[in-house]
Amino acid sequence: MIQNTGEQPARRPLLAMQQVTQAYSLPRASLFAAPDSFKVLDSIDFDVCAGEAVGLVGESGAGKTTLTRILTGMERPQTGTVHFDGQDIWAGTTEQRAQFRRSVQMVLQNPRSSLDPRMRVGSALLEPLRSLRIEGDHMARVFEVLDQVGLDPSALERFPHEFSGGQLQRIAIARALMPNPKVLVADEPVSALDVSIQAQVLNLLKDLVRDLQLGLVFIAHDLSVVAYTTSRVSVIAGGKIVEVGKPVELFTRPHAAETRNLVDAVLTVESGLAGSAL
Ligand SMILES: Nc1ncnc2c1ncn2[C@@H]1O[C@H](COP(=O)(O)OP(=O)(O)O)[C@@H](O)[C@H]1O
Ligand SMILES: [Mg+2]
Repeated sequence: MIQNTGEQPARRPLLAMQQVTQAYSLPRASLFAAPDSFKVLDSIDFDVCAGEAVGLVGESGAGKTTLTRILTGMERPQTGTVHFDGQDIWAGTTEQRAQFRRSVQMVLQNPRSSLDPRMRVGSALLEPLRSLRIEGDHMARVFEVLDQVGLDPSALERFPHEFSGGQLQRIAIARALMPNPKVLVADEPVSALDVSIQAQVLNLLKDLVRDLQLGLVFIAHDLSVVAYTTSRVSVIAGGKIVEVGKPVELFTRPHAAETRNLVDAVLTVESGLAGSAL
């Protein structure tokens, strides 16, 4: 029998968390009770390679945002590790830490709260270059990124309130791209948008993964939008990864009860995207 070894190249994750556990302490039940704690994340493994879009899906309260905060270095896990490009993000030199902060950028759910209403779009785009001390021709970078996200340069002089939700999320994505990151972590990036414009933002993210060889971590509670955007999906429930698979496998052969619930939720909503994901 021919052994089928060595055919699949080993995965070389760019950003990876291993065995991450995070607990928050709860108020004591009484003065004499032992302090209690609540595990938000339990032994989580999660990673993304360059040029790959991976998804994380789970119901509200499952632990998705906490995972995001740990993956991006905003929060330190109690146990477990996070590596970027092979380097433990909590053990590197100051220069390695600065490089990590440029290389991993976030897109949040609501661009109206992530963009300063008093700042023109041009200044909002330049701001990360200043705060991350990135050198070079900043205006040239602004025009390059506007082109990548399909925005007209006239946007630079305008204020956030002059844009629709979909355009604003495009601006928030542009801002995240400014430091030329290698990984984008998007936490519910279309959940606040009308269904009719969600697809435009999802398509933009897919194009960026392909054109820039970006690693994308796409997080949502809706399996259909995650399936549409990514090639591998982890299902999280109660702080644990309960299933990992390709989107089509999760839809057609869900194993975990939590995955079945997410599939049922999509099928009852009858969203247009659900069909295209299959
Ligand atoms: N700083 C915190 N202190 C205590 N509990 C928290 C904290 N942050 C999140 N939680 C709890 O952790 C759980 C997971 O939250 P979160 O990661 O925001 O989930 P999701 O993004 O999937 O909705 C929730 O029960 C939430 O109330
Ligand atoms: Mg969340």
